[in-house]
Amino acid sequence: MAPLVLRTVAETAAWAESIRRSGRRLALVPTMGYLHDGHVSLMREGRGRADVVAASIFVNPTQFGPTEDLSRYPRDMEGDLAKCASAGVEAVFAPEPSEVYPPGFQTYVEVTQVSQGQCGARRPGHFKGVATVVTKLLCLFKPHVALFGEKDYQQLQVIRALERDLNLGVEIIGMPTIREADGLAMSSRNAYLSPEGRKQALALSRGMAAAQALYRQGTREVPVLVSAVRRELEAAGLREDYVELVDATSLSPLSTVSPGQPARLLVAAFVGTTRLIDNQPIGG
Ligand code: PAF
Repeated sequence: MAPLVLRTVAETAAWAESIRRSGRRLALVPTMGYLHDGHVSLMREGRGRADVVAASIFVNPTQFGPTEDLSRYPRDMEGDLAKCASAGVEAVFAPEPSEVYPPGFQTYVEVTQVSQGQCGARRPGHFKGVATVVTKLLCLFKPHVALFGEKDYQQLQVIRALERDLNLGVEIIGMPTIREADGLAMSSRNAYLSPEGRKQALALSRGMAAAQALYRQGTREVPVLVSAVRRELEAAGLREDYVELVDATSLSPLSTVSPGQPARLLVAAFVGTTRLIDNQPIGG
């Protein structure tokens, strides 16, 4: 069945309240639209964890820098609603920016530690925009559970921190990255890639696989593991934004991977002008 499309904060608050009052568990999947199988996996998981699943489709202007891709971010509301319908989503909040940020809006949420490095250092203000809109969505829907992809690993840590620090009482679920058959992590931004760029982009997952192979052979020194990723990026002609191996929770850089310490390899690189990110666990 086609989902109910909610355009305003008032109707969304009333709808969510009616679900909660009826005693049903509510799951929320926040998205920026142009949905792919990664988003659909979040929606399906939401159905398993709650009675009713809602999604939001909102290209959030506050998380884009002035020179970033806000105006050309891919959009397909009709296709997205069809995907939501087949994933069993009952309602979709799809507001105009002025509904989320009306005149006089002046309150932002800043997560001060896990948002500092990696993408946070290269995209000033990005996580402030993410944290603000996610906080607003969680406060609006008051879901029992909210689901996010691990593809945006740092974002997931930022969201876990804000939920905990602000006592929002929402269970935050991180779900594994969904990949194309050849290893490319699914992302709405893959739509920007030319056929040639699409091939080059495989260097991210290939590089991480090379580091993982070295780790399995006994390499524990982070510079050696990181170099294995860099070699693949360079060979494919990609421009590195960063390659870091960090503590999986604090995201602090590590110099060696120790047994029992969950670590995460985080990669960001440009394929032409398209910036892609990917990550995977190492050790643990
Ligand atoms: O991951 C995304 O699509 C966005 O950053 C999110 C969490 C929906 C906030 O705008």
